[in-house]
Amino acid sequence: MENISIVILAAGKGTRMKSQKAKVLHELASKPMLYYIIKEAKKITDDISVVVAHQKDEVKSTVEKFFEGINFIEQDLEKYPGTGGAVKNIQPKYDRVLVLNGDMPLVTTQSLKAFLEVDADIVMSIFDLNNPAGYGRVIIKNNEVQYIVEQKDATDEELKTTTVNAGVYCFSKNVLEEFVPLLSNENAQKEYYLTDIIELAKNKHKTIKPLFVDEEHFKGINSKKDLAEAEEILLDRIKEKWLAAGVIMQLPQTVYIEDDVEFEGECILEQGVRITGKSKIENSHIKAHSIIEDSVVVDSDVGPLAHLRPNSFLKDTHIGNFVEVKKSNLVGVKAGHLSYLGDSEIKRGTNIGAGTITCNYDGKNKYKTKIGKNVFIGSDTQLVAPVNIEDDVMIAAGTTVTKDVKKGSLAISRTPLKFVENFFYKFFKKD
Ligand code: UD1
Ligand code: CA
Repeated sequence: MENISIVILAAGKGTRMKSQKAKVLHELASKPMLYYIIKEAKKITDDISVVVAHQKDEVKSTVEKFFEGINFIEQDLEKYPGTGGAVKNIQPKYDRVLVLNGDMPLVTTQSLKAFLEVDADIVMSIFDLNNPAGYGRVIIKNNEVQYIVEQKDATDEELKTTTVNAGVYCFSKNVLEEFVPLLSNENAQKEYYLTDIIELAKNKHKTIKPLFVDEEHFKGINSKKDLAEAEEILLDRIKEKWLAAGVIMQLPQTVYIEDDVEFEGECILEQGVRITGKSKIENSHIKAHSIIEDSVVVDSDVGPLAHLRPNSFLKDTHIGNFVEVKKSNLVGVKAGHLSYLGDSEIKRGTNIGAGTITCNYDGKNKYKTKIGKNVFIGSDTQLVAPVNIEDDVMIAAGTTVTKDVKKGSLAISRTPLKFVENFFYKFFKKD
């Protein structure tokens, strides 16, 4: 842990996102932007503050869902709008303060720690972009940062600058205390810009050092397009981690794996696989275009085109195409085609025929289906839950099972098969 305070600015509206939702709550791979920033910040310090105002209750409760011990600072958006207004009420515990925008979800512990290694009153982050649109331009003369000008306030000459402010700064606490009260809102947006602190501090001969950073870690999210691009970078990182750990992926650019997913042993993921939540895959083969949500798969194969919904556990099991499994425990089971297995428990050696459906819902409640060992379930069977099928049972194709079935029996429910001779010819009036 470092003796540094981290302040995350998360009070803005994020107008350019064109959404009712606060910008910092927009999600990448199912987690809000703020989650990723705080997760990395937590590895650096015990003093993390999040500045809130717009939708403050939602922002607070979202953060508290994931983390404990975060300080929330309220910004007075009416009186002091802007990133400068955001730092007005902060109370950092340490003498150095790392301030970062809440809209940069790609930062990592390592990329943030680089700021701590530079000794200056202000360390500021810059990068060079082919397309600097939207960022504040950093004006450098004689190898020294002179000032930052926001896009909306910049002259044509200043707009040509491709060196931009990435939006992370490491301040000495004294500098903040001295200059934040001096910020003014005389600019195009009538906002208090934190970035104006650079020029103020420079005029008072404070040391300002730029730190070159990369867009891959410090990209700011201002639009839905930025969000999609950042999500892709984040997903690539997750996949790179698992490729390096030995997971096989076909066409990895088409595979989607969320942050909390884990793999163990030899795993193969075919193209178009999506694995979400706290799923764990161990020694298994997930075939093309299958979706696995919050489930555990051990020594099994799934898909192509299968769907495991939350709380499913599979071991030594084969799940084939168009099979949906939900909240079920399957050990040593084969379900090759076109089935729905929900709220069920199925034991070793059991074969589930094509078109088998657990009818787990009566319109009010959900019920369990229990199936024992070595059961053979014929195609197109409906299992009306709650129902218990003991070991060594056979169920004939097309049966609707409405009662428990005892060990060793056959269950069959069928309307008798009838023949009407020459019906076809009569119906179509052909000879
Ligand atoms: C800011 C910088 C810009 C830089 C860019 C990098 C300023 C004035 N400009 O611009 O130089 O290139 O980031 O990404 O700082 N926020 C508040 N309170 C407010 C306004 C904003 O907490 O009153 C928060 C937002 O929630 C957001 C962050 O500050 O997380 C940045 O705000 P945003 O409006 O995105 O700033 P930019 O215009 O991108
Ligand atoms: Ca921004």
